[in-house]
Amino acid sequence: MIGARRLYQTACKSQVQVLGRTYEVDSMSNISNSIAEKLNRKLLNETLSPLSLLCRRIQGHFEQAHPGQFEFIQDDNPVVRVTQNFDELLIPPSHPSRSPHDSYYINREFMLRTHMTANEREIMASGVRSFLLVGDVYRRDEIDTSHLPVFHQLEGARIFTPDELLKMERPLGKLNSHMEAELGKQALQIDHDPRLVRIVIQNLYETLEGFMRSLFGRSSQIRWQETYFPFTQPSFEAEVYFNDKWLEIFGSGVLQKQVIHDSIDKSNLGWAFGMGLERVAMVLHQIPDIRLFWTTDPRFHDQFRSQLTNLDQPIIFSPFSKYPPIYRDLSFYHDSSFQPNEIFELIRNVDANVIENVQLLDEYTNPKTNQMSKCYRITYRSMECTLTDSHVNEIHSSIRQASQSLLNLQLR
Ligand code: PHE
Repeated sequence: MIGARRLYQTACKSQVQVLGRTYEVDSMSNISNSIAEKLNRKLLNETLSPLSLLCRRIQGHFEQAHPGQFEFIQDDNPVVRVTQNFDELLIPPSHPSRSPHDSYYINREFMLRTHMTANEREIMASGVRSFLLVGDVYRRDEIDTSHLPVFHQLEGARIFTPDELLKMERPLGKLNSHMEAELGKQALQIDHDPRLVRIVIQNLYETLEGFMRSLFGRSSQIRWQETYFPFTQPSFEAEVYFNDKWLEIFGSGVLQKQVIHDSIDKSNLGWAFGMGLERVAMVLHQIPDIRLFWTTDPRFHDQFRSQLTNLDQPIIFSPFSKYPPIYRDLSFYHDSSFQPNEIFELIRNVDANVIENVQLLDEYTNPKTNQMSKCYRITYRSMECTLTDSHVNEIHSSIRQASQSLLNLQLR
C-alpha cells in the first residue's frame, strides 16, 4: 500500500485536470497516466467504432419494439461522486469494489464510475422514468485479451406507477419457467406488493428477452438465473447460448425502493439492467482482443463501414495479420500486503499498448521463512507492428525497475 501511494504521487501533482475540471488530489487519488489518456477519447462518438454501431442497433431495436417508451441517453462524463457510485446504491462500506485497488479515485469525494448504475438516480431526478443510458466505466483489473480498465456499459431502467402496472396485468401472463422458479426462491422487498412485483418482472423479462433475441437471433437459447446486487431485489442474471458457449449478458432486477429517486412517489416500482458493450460486440463480430477497440489502425475500423447501412447484420471481423508475441517473466519476493492489481497497473503505465496478457505462472511460500514469491509471464504483442527483442527488453527493464522502486518488490 505504501509503495502504491508513492506510485501515484509521482504521477500526480496537488491538483489534477479531469475532462476540463480541476480537482484536489488527496491520499485516495490513484488515476494513472494510462487511464488519464483514455479519458479523452470518446469511442462512442466514433462512427465506425463497433461500440457506437452496437448502440445504434440497440436504439433501433428499442424504438421499433417499444416506440416512444425509452429515452436514449449517452453520458460522456464518467466522473461521479463516490456516494453516487456506492452509498446511494446501498453498496456497503466494506464492499471490495470500493478499494482503491479496484476502483479509480480522483480524490476521496470524486471517482470514475465503475458502472452506469451510478447515473441512474440523477436521470430519474431530471424527470425521466424510462431510459437507456450508455457511457464509459472504469475498473482496475487484470490484463488479458478480454479485460481493460476502461469499458462501456448500457444501462436500462423503467419505473411504473401502481396504476400503470395493474393495467398491464394479464390474467394468463405466465412467466418463463426459470423466472417463475427464481421468483419463488428470492425474498421480495418489505412492503412490496407481490402482485405488482410480478408484473414488473413480467415486463423486465419480456423486454429483455426480446432485446437479447434481437441481438443474438430469434431462436437463441436464453437462461435466467438468480444473482445478487445490493441495489436490486429480487435480482436476475441472463445468459445466452451463442457460438457454443453460455455467455453472461446482463444483471438485472427490481430496483430497491431507496434507490429510486426521492422525487418519485414511494408507491412506484421499477426494474433496471446493466450490460457490457465490449463483451457483446466481441462475440457478435468475433473480435479477439479488447485492445482492438482502442486501435487507430484503419484496418480495424474500415471493416465495419458496411455495418453503417446494415446495422442488424454484424460483420465478422477478420484479423489483420497477427504479429508474433514475445514473452518475458517477472519474478519477485513480496509480503502479505502485496495486491496483484498494483503490479498490473504499474505494467500498464509503462506501456499499455504492447502488453496483451499478464499471467501468474507460479507462486511459492517458503515454509521456513514465510517469504512469498510470484512469477508473472508477460505477453508482449502489438496490434500494429512486429516488436523487436531489444524494444521489449527496454520495456521489460523499465517494468523491473519500477517494481523495485515504486512497489518495493525484491526481484529474483
Ligand atoms: N451495475 C451492475 C454491474 O455493473 C449491473 C446491473 C445494473 C445490475 C442494473 C442490476 C441492475 O454489474
